Amino acid sequence: MTGFTRDEDGRLLIDGLDVAELAESYGTPVYLYSGAGFLSHFSQFRQAVAPKDAPYQTKVHYAVKANSALAILSLLAQAGAGADIVSGGEMQRALQAGVAPDHIVFSGVGKSSDEIRAALSAKIGQINAESPAELHLIADIAADMGVIAPVALRVNVNVDPGSHAKISTGQRNTKFGISTDDGEAERLYHWLCAQDSIKPCGLAVHIGSQLTKLAPFETAYQALLELADRLRENGCDVPQLDLGGGLGVDYNCETTPDFDAYGKMVARIFANRGYDLGFEPGRSIAADQGILVVSTLYLKDGADKQFVIVDGAMNDLIRPTLYEAYHKIEPVLMNGDMSQEIKSGQITADIVGPVCETGDYLGQDRQLPSITSGDYIAVRSAGAYGAVMMSNYNTRPEAAEILVLDGTAHVIRPRRTVADLLALETNPFAAS
Ligand code: LLP
Repeated sequence: MTGFTRDEDGRLLIDGLDVAELAESYGTPVYLYSGAGFLSHFSQFRQAVAPKDAPYQTKVHYAVKANSALAILSLLAQAGAGADIVSGGEMQRALQAGVAPDHIVFSGVGKSSDEIRAALSAKIGQINAESPAELHLIADIAADMGVIAPVALRVNVNVDPGSHAKISTGQRNTKFGISTDDGEAERLYHWLCAQDSIKPCGLAVHIGSQLTKLAPFETAYQALLELADRLRENGCDVPQLDLGGGLGVDYNCETTPDFDAYGKMVARIFANRGYDLGFEPGRSIAADQGILVVSTLYLKDGADKQFVIVDGAMNDLIRPTLYEAYHKIEPVLMNGDMSQEIKSGQITADIVGPVCETGDYLGQDRQLPSITSGDYIAVRSAGAYGAVMMSNYNTRPEAAEILVLDGTAHVIRPRRTVADLLALETNPFAAS
């Protein structure tokens, strides 16, 4: 049995292993991942966008930022995934994990000249340029190195993805892409095609993350296609369209992403138009495959509400407080009438951590069954943008990350200790 299930005694299992036993062995807070889940979502995505009879070539570049653990990158690379990266650091990770360089796409608005040089030296497959200044720098660096830079232009098609403001990238007022208004993107693409040190790779678009509707994708893709057709009519080489990531997940854990509906929409727009397609899914591959397990420290009756104080905090999972994000929260062991108790709202509480901020919560006003100190609690759908966004705030060492594959639990990132953190600093003023 893969993914997260419950046995008849109400125990939460991950790929068949007992979550409570794993929490006991590895301590809390701890991230647990389903290796089979990652592989299955990746292959479902790939099948949906590249069915056997697909009338275009496709490449799927997993968005490393969603969950960049080396072990996960290696698993996905072995299953055929490329990598979408946004920093020199992510490039090193992807290469070290075994992703083929020509299967790497470098996105992001602020690549430094060192990062551009490193990307060209590594011979990565594509750099997505996002501003005229960056494009000029890439051309100059490539000429200086005597190489040809494979470059796509990321465009901004001014589409509201209908997601949280902080993770919406498609509108004109964001820092992303080159505007398709007033011929700006068109002019720049012509310029790019005329450079000896640049090989044009096509256009890229990414309008945001956690999109729960297909309509904004469709609007953005139509705009992209129109621009690409116009460029081709005017003699430009536009081999590929990079359609970004963004497919949302159901944080209530009731449904999995509808990869097929997405794939069908893509086929409707791009079939027989003569473009190769690239994809950069992150969240839709990773989110459902991970949980953060925390332990209950105390129950506290506040003046107005109850608090379940746990040992995991905003430094372990910042999404709830940063994006007002909902993550389903449930006891690891749900025995007896607990689901009944949840329905009847045995307790309604905020699940909070030890960090000294009111914004330090994993969930607010949640209905839970009767919980006691020491109980394990699972924060669901934490496989994407969870561990990668951990910090050491309040000098809290990062949680361990454990990946389960074929019935074995692998420590893929050991828990940090306070000594590890302090060893990263130098103190010229220490009393000797
Ligand atoms: N491609 C580009 C250029 C991106 O900027 C992103 C995500 C992706 C692909 C992958 O998108 P996905 O399939 O994961 O939606 N920390 C935030 C999410 C930030 C997403 C940033 N860009 C969160 O926790 O919700």
